[in-house]
Amino acid sequence: MTAPVQAFTRAKPATSPRDASPFSMMAMQQAIAEPLAQEIVALEGQSPPSHLHGRTRSVSIPGSSKAPRMLQPVNMDTIRILLLENVSQGAVKMLREQGFEVDFYTGAWGEDELVEKIGDYHAIGIRSKTRLTRRVFEAAHQLLVVGCFCIGTNQVDLEAATKHGIAVFNSPFANSRSVAELVIGELVCLSRQLADRAMEMRQGTWNKVSKGCYELRGKLLGIVGYGHIGSQLSVLAESMGMRVIYHDVLPLMPLGSARQADSLEELLSTADFVSLHVPELPETRGMIGAKELALMKPGAYLINNSRGTVVDIPALVDSLKSKHLGGCAVDVFPREPAKNGENTFNDELNSWASELQKQSNVIMTPHIGGSTEEAQRMIGIEVGNALCRYILYGGSTGAVNFPEVNLRPITEQETRSIRICYVHHNQPGALLAVNEIIGSHNVDKQSTDSLKDLAYLLADISDVSESDIQDIYSRLTKTPACILTRLLS
Ligand SMILES: NC(=O)c1ccc[n+]([C@@H]2O[C@H](COP(=O)([O-])OP(=O)(O)OC[C@H]3O[C@@H](n4cnc5c(N)ncnc54)[C@H](O)[C@@H]3O)[C@@H](O)[C@H]2O)c1
Repeated sequence: MTAPVQAFTRAKPATSPRDASPFSMMAMQQAIAEPLAQEIVALEGQSPPSHLHGRTRSVSIPGSSKAPRMLQPVNMDTIRILLLENVSQGAVKMLREQGFEVDFYTGAWGEDELVEKIGDYHAIGIRSKTRLTRRVFEAAHQLLVVGCFCIGTNQVDLEAATKHGIAVFNSPFANSRSVAELVIGELVCLSRQLADRAMEMRQGTWNKVSKGCYELRGKLLGIVGYGHIGSQLSVLAESMGMRVIYHDVLPLMPLGSARQADSLEELLSTADFVSLHVPELPETRGMIGAKELALMKPGAYLINNSRGTVVDIPALVDSLKSKHLGGCAVDVFPREPAKNGENTFNDELNSWASELQKQSNVIMTPHIGGSTEEAQRMIGIEVGNALCRYILYGGSTGAVNFPEVNLRPITEQETRSIRICYVHHNQPGALLAVNEIIGSHNVDKQSTDSLKDLAYLLADISDVSESDIQDIYSRLTKTPACILTRLLS
């Protein structure tokens, strides 16, 4: 590269990339050899349709002339990543193997420390305790991407991130299997009144009973919400000899011998067990109240591992008191304690807490459905992959604040091709301005989408010279709609 080209520029505030050398060819070749890199490349531009719930996998063909080429940010010095809150070691290893410089810390950082140091980093990985505020984003002059190594993104000021053109990724589905397995355990515990027997034994009471205790085999499980968790549960439950029906707002292909119910009412009135796996939405708030509980079969069991607002708990308590329901398992609550500790779950928090605690055959757990070592590892892999994909290929699939844009890979053959990643305001004339700049080149492929006020464009241009790159870059960064421009080659 003769003429220096900045790796990326934000329109406001202006960036000041540090002077350093680009990735060496050797490092690039090493990265290509990594199996992980192949998986990232293979996935790039080929996100499966959401109804498949991530059950597909793509395979790349190393050595083929059509094999995807590893891209690198043009003329960018080593990419620096800050990982806080002891994120999974798998993710740390993965990011280092890509040639990134990774600073790893076990604790969370406060706002002042972040403001002081965030300017050195191109990416940050956090869990739920580090708060990324407006002030932090204002100081983050080089930051491209945030990885939340957890389920939620409440700790991130998404509006501020979006304003600065910073993509935010999380991992909402990595713990699906853990939740599904917990439900299987709860099915057995409820049908055998295990929680009550175990508590009695701890108090020295021998109470050997079989009345009201059942096998799962042949029983009907009703799954409300047949998404990532509901569909896994369906397969596991059938392997235990259960029959499965499900209710979902979408018509979804059944797995195994499961059947989609005609209505929620049909499911409630026929199932021996009802397990809830819907998202928290205005329509799912109070979805299971007195009327729905009354529809359930006498002696049936209710399991809620979805969100606390989905069930009207005072109505549930009434149904248990009247012995209409045979028991329930509840992992999620409308209000949950902010931290672990004795006497944190009480009537002050939820006025009905002690009433629910008193009922028989009730399993209450502290929102542990997804809390396993395996889920943490999966989160590390998923978010680590998302960071690599975004930094090296520009792909934004799975971002919570960006439109999802991807392009099929640039191949090994296409040595003189570059990829433009252009984050911009969603405003009239934005694409016209871009096309005036790149229109005279051979644009192999281009994709763009918008999400509210933010738009994102990826374009691959072939047969570009060094001076073309310089020209394209400097003109794109001056377009009125530009928030951030990056070039990958
Ligand atoms: N207990 C835990 O620790 C834990 C862990 C992970 C997820 N969750 C919760 O579990 C729930 C399900 O998660 P998921 O990953 O399977 O979600 P998902 O998005 O994959 O699936 C949700 C399904 O519910 C369906 N749905 C939406 N509204 C509906 C309605 N009104 N009636 C019927 N179906 C409806 C959707 O079409 C979708 O198929 C979420 O609320 C999530 O927050 C809890």
